[in-house]
Amino acid sequence: MSSTEEKNLLLGGLLYPKETHSVESLKFAREFKVKDDDILAVTYPKSGTIWMQEILPLVLNGGDLTPINTIPNWDRVPWLEEKRLEQIVDQLKSPRALVTHFPFNLMPPSFHTSKAKVIYVMRNPKDILVSSYYFHQMATFLDDPGTFDEFIDKFLEGRVLFGKWTDHVKSWRRAKLGDRIMFITYEDMVQDLPASIRRISDFLCCNLSEEVIQNIAKCCSFKKMKTNPLSNFSLVSKEYMNNDKSPFLRKGTTGDWKNHFDSQQLTRFESVIHKELEGEDFSLPWSLE
Ligand code: A3P
Repeated sequence: MSSTEEKNLLLGGLLYPKETHSVESLKFAREFKVKDDDILAVTYPKSGTIWMQEILPLVLNGGDLTPINTIPNWDRVPWLEEKRLEQIVDQLKSPRALVTHFPFNLMPPSFHTSKAKVIYVMRNPKDILVSSYYFHQMATFLDDPGTFDEFIDKFLEGRVLFGKWTDHVKSWRRAKLGDRIMFITYEDMVQDLPASIRRISDFLCCNLSEEVIQNIAKCCSFKKMKTNPLSNFSLVSKEYMNNDKSPFLRKGTTGDWKNHFDSQQLTRFESVIHKELEGEDFSLPWSLE
């Protein structure tokens, strides 16, 4: 058995880590009863998921810090598709916030008939790839990424968790959800976190004062999150996530890809991504070059 098969489930053409996902958890997610006032932050892995697990509870609770100071991120805003959800779902208070890496077509039927709102966080795929490469080195429950060059091929071919980045983005950009969906980028959030939080708060009709927005932004800074044991995965045994190898909250910047890709790799990467997005009626919020 290859390391990929040993550590991942392959279902419907997508890979899921066995440590956190099971056939039952995926079934539970598909049968999950989404409520009208639920909020789902949707991300392709490494696009800012845990950042949303910090921001959403604060926005929804008027800036009250209790959730981020008392509940680990995976229980505060659980993943729809992970094993943990079934154990803690009854403890979630409405309005519930969840995260998911599911492409649009895997969302449960109840999502489609609900009024639940979606915040889709996009990140430059070159930075996603770099972030993911380090994540595979620190998370022992994931397979060895191989060399950076090999990992580029895996990423472009979709032989990574949750498949191809282009398929994920296309599925959500094509979804006809009207004003139920808001798109934001990781890059926007890095550039101006208070303005991003203001957009999220307005979208969720939370009506927060400027003072509260500024305070939430301070609490959700990279530096703050890096030292919050309930957000930085330091509570997870080193056997599973070795923060000494590479911290989960690694750099928190944009453009780290410039330190990793050579010119040949860039050409290869860009041509595949461009080709796969050809003909789409949306444009990327940043230039890939
Ligand atoms: P890097 O590896 O580039 O540092 P996810 O939560 O989807 O797995 O994404 C993880 C990425 O989001 C990591 O990127 C992590 O550092 C970054 N991140 C998490 N919280 C952040 C914050 N407050 N500010 C900036 N980046 C953050």
